[in-house]
Amino acid sequence: MDKLVVNGPNRLCGELTVSGSKNAALPIVFASLMAEGVHTINNVPRLADMDSAQRMLLCFGAEIDQNMKSQFGANWVVDTRNIKSGEAPYDLVRKMRASFFSLGPLLARRGEARVSLPGGCAIGARPVDLHLNAFEALGAKVEQEAGYVTVRAKDGKLPGGKYVFPFVSVGATENVMMAATLSKGECVLENAAREPEVFYLAEVLNSMGAKISGHGTSTITISGVDRLEPMNFTIPPDRIEAATYLIAAHMTGGSITLHNAPVVDLGAVLAALAESGAEYGIEENIIQLESSGDILPVSIKTEAYPGFPTDVQAQWCALMTQANGVSTVEETIFENRFMHVPELIRMGANIKIDGNKLTIKAKKSALTGAPVMATDLRASASLVLAALVAEGSSEVLRIYHLDRGYESMELKLRSLGARVERV
Ligand code: EPZ
Repeated sequence: MDKLVVNGPNRLCGELTVSGSKNAALPIVFASLMAEGVHTINNVPRLADMDSAQRMLLCFGAEIDQNMKSQFGANWVVDTRNIKSGEAPYDLVRKMRASFFSLGPLLARRGEARVSLPGGCAIGARPVDLHLNAFEALGAKVEQEAGYVTVRAKDGKLPGGKYVFPFVSVGATENVMMAATLSKGECVLENAAREPEVFYLAEVLNSMGAKISGHGTSTITISGVDRLEPMNFTIPPDRIEAATYLIAAHMTGGSITLHNAPVVDLGAVLAALAESGAEYGIEENIIQLESSGDILPVSIKTEAYPGFPTDVQAQWCALMTQANGVSTVEETIFENRFMHVPELIRMGANIKIDGNKLTIKAKKSALTGAPVMATDLRASASLVLAALVAEGSSEVLRIYHLDRGYESMELKLRSLGARVERV
C-alpha cells in the first residue's frame, strides 16, 4: 500500500497543466454505450477511477484502445458496436460508485439495464433514490431485488415525462438526461444540477445528435431522437484539481501558473481565494496566482454549483489552518465529509466540529509533520496540502484514495518544488 512522504515547509512555485476532469469524463465514457460505432475520447485523465470505468465498459462488451502519448492524459478509442450485456456486476460497481452512471446509457441502448446498487462510501450513504424516481417519472419500470436494480422501458423506449428534483443531484441529473436522449417523447428535468460536468455531458450528447437545451440552468429539456452517432470529444480540464493546486500555492506563500485551466468553472473558488489574500490574473485559459503567505480567514459554506464546491471543502480547511484568525466551514451536501479534520488536528490544527459546521482557530505554521491516514479522495488531498506547510516530515498513508482523482500528484507537486516521495 503506497504512502506519500512529505517534508515541509516549503513554498510552491512553478507551472502546471490541468488534467482532464474525472467527474466530466466518467459520465461521458459511459455515454459511448448509447451509439453503435467507434468513439474518440481525448484527454481522459489517467486515474484509478477511469480504469474502473474501462473495466465496466469491457464487461458490457465494448472494446477500448488507450494510447498515452504524453506524460499525462490518454486518448481512448471505444468501439461499442457489440454491447452484449446490460448488467453491471456488484464487484465492479462497489469499487467505483460512478459505475451507476451506466444505468441510463444501457437503458437507452438496450431498453433495459440491471445494475448493482452502489452502496455507500466513506463520505455518506449516498443513496440513488433520485435516480430511480426520475427514471420512473419518465415512464421506466424500476424493480429492486438482491442488491440490484432493474430498469426497463416498455417496448424499449422511454415514453418521456417530467421530473422535479426535490434537491440537486449531479449524478441523477446526468443518468436520467442520458436515458432521455433516446426517449420517444419530450423529457423535462426541473431543479436539475447546473454543475459544469452536466453542461459538458449535454454538449457531448448534442454533438452525437441529441436534442438537449437548458443545460447549465435548473431546467433541462430533452427531445428524444431515434439514434445517436459516435462522439469525438476532448475532456475539459478538472476544476477540482485546479482548485487544489491554487490552494496549495496560496497556502505555501508561493506562486503558480495553471495552463489549460477551467477558468469559467472556478468562480466561487477564485472569489474565496481573492478574499483570503491571494492575487491572481487570468489570460484566456491560463490562471496566474501569487501569494504573500498572509492568508486571511474566509468562511465558506458548500453548495450546489455555482456555490462553493463540496469537493474543495477539505482543501479549504487545510488552507484555513494557516489563516490569521478564525473561520468557519459549513458542509451542506454530504453528511460525513469531515474525515480530514481529526487528522489535521493530529498535525496540530485547532478545529472544533459542531454537526455540519467547523470552527478553525489558526495561528501561522501551527502544523507539525505526522503520519496521517487518508480516508477519501478529497480528504487525502487536504492532508497532503497540510503536510506541505507542516514543520518536518509527514507520511500520508492509503494514498490509493488520492490516485482515484489526482493524476500523478507527487510528480506535479515535485515540479512545483515540493519535497514529496511516493514510497
Ligand atoms: C458527484 O457525485 C461527484 N462525483 C462528487 O464528487 C461530488 O461531490 C458530488 O457530485 C456533488 O457535487 C462524480 O461526479 C463522479 P449528488 P454524486 O448526487 O452525483 C444525495 C469527488 O470527490 N443524493 O449530487 O453522487 C447524496 O447522498 C466526488 O470527485 C440522494 O440522497 O452527488 C448527497 O448527499 C465525491 N439521493 C447529495 O444528494 C440520490 O439519488 C448530492 O449528491 C442522489 C444523491
